[in-house]
Amino acid sequence: MAKQWGGRFEAQTDALVEALGQSVSYDARLAPWDIRASIAHARMLGQEGIITRADSRKIVAGLTAIAKDIDAGRFTFDPSLEDVHTNIESALVTRIGDAGKRLHTGRSRNDQVATDVRLWMRDQIDTILKLLKAIQAAFVDFAEAHVEVILPGCTHLQHAQPVLLAHHMLAYFEMFARDRDRFTQLRARVNVMPLGSAALAGTPYPINREWVAKELGFERISANSMDAVSDRDFVIEFCAAASLTMMHLSRFSEELILWSTPEYHFIEIGDSYTTGSSIMPQKKNPDVAELVRGKTGRVYGDLTALLTLMKGLPLTYNRDLQEDKEALFDASDTVQLCLAVVTRMIPSIHIHAHAMESATREGYLEATDVADYLVGKGMPFREAHSVVGRIVLYCSRNGRRIPELSVKEFRSFAACFDADIVDALSVESIVRRRDNPGGTSPRRVREALRKARKSL
Ligand code: ARG
Repeated sequence: MAKQWGGRFEAQTDALVEALGQSVSYDARLAPWDIRASIAHARMLGQEGIITRADSRKIVAGLTAIAKDIDAGRFTFDPSLEDVHTNIESALVTRIGDAGKRLHTGRSRNDQVATDVRLWMRDQIDTILKLLKAIQAAFVDFAEAHVEVILPGCTHLQHAQPVLLAHHMLAYFEMFARDRDRFTQLRARVNVMPLGSAALAGTPYPINREWVAKELGFERISANSMDAVSDRDFVIEFCAAASLTMMHLSRFSEELILWSTPEYHFIEIGDSYTTGSSIMPQKKNPDVAELVRGKTGRVYGDLTALLTLMKGLPLTYNRDLQEDKEALFDASDTVQLCLAVVTRMIPSIHIHAHAMESATREGYLEATDVADYLVGKGMPFREAHSVVGRIVLYCSRNGRRIPELSVKEFRSFAACFDADIVDALSVESIVRRRDNPGGTSPRRVREALRKARKSL
């Protein structure tokens, strides 16, 4: 293998070094962004008289033709040329000769790769923002379709208080709204152009960074060349944001998995998002939800790999940085695929409203409201809490439910119980009373649904 930039070497590179050092097998996907950045750079070089206009035009035409070939699958990337940048530059020289050798004037692969990754990431963020919006819309549709359904809300996975299923679903809407915020804020930090930082110190050529930045849609240019070529905190932030989105998807998946067990029997996930067993003919397994939950760990792994990669690197560029790409690409691909598949799975979920509502009859969900009732009669809350504790104990010893008790039985625990306790105990009235902003009352939930719809 001929040595790249071999002027100062006498021996060839060890054969294993190619396997270790090549990145083109995975960074080839940066080619469209690499070429866009190179075209902008070449135009600027021509405009500023750093290279001739004729050479600049030849480079732009050559790069455009290479982009077409890559797009059509007619371009072969060569691992002996190390990475996407060298592959494209070398193809350019082969095609247009000496003009191609002038493209790299005033830049380095260090500012080039940082620019490419930022351009690529900006587009990924835009796609992720669309996917997040789509999953939010799926939650709103789902909540609207089941706005009457009540189920036990849990803490500690124990029945706590009844809530509207729509309220439960809108909780996920809020999580994905925050994810959208996070990616939107990250986009502004990503949209800064490193190009012009060259290897680490800047370049003596009279380049026009502002023009290139505008041409590439960057909001700003980087302020410090040493930071610009060596920083990857935006890559870590991307993986952190992706990890949080995966965490949200995973929590939802976990609920779907629990809810589709015979013990819950709350839902049935559609055939297109479940799979059978190779041995047990009766099985309908929630594999999609399980895989999303499983893939969450893998995105966390990507984040951890990147944090560890960066922690010991002195300024400025170190080759370790090449290792950022596989983790980043994996996190991006995984979060996009999982968002898309869960969004499609949501409308396939069939709700067993009856099972949800019968579950509200177990676990003394009315207890807090009985205490609140006593507070309404003038009893301090702490005292009411202990009175109701005794009522629950009585019920559990005697196999009774709180709403089954007679007024006389209630009175045996506290004299202030009246006949109106009966009305206070239906799950509908318990839900209806939670009518403060953010609460589960049908009025508040309908209002939240309208707001959610509007925000999309
Ligand atoms: N493939 C390299 C990377 O991803 C490009 C930059 C190489 N720069 C260098 N000085 N070796 O980091």
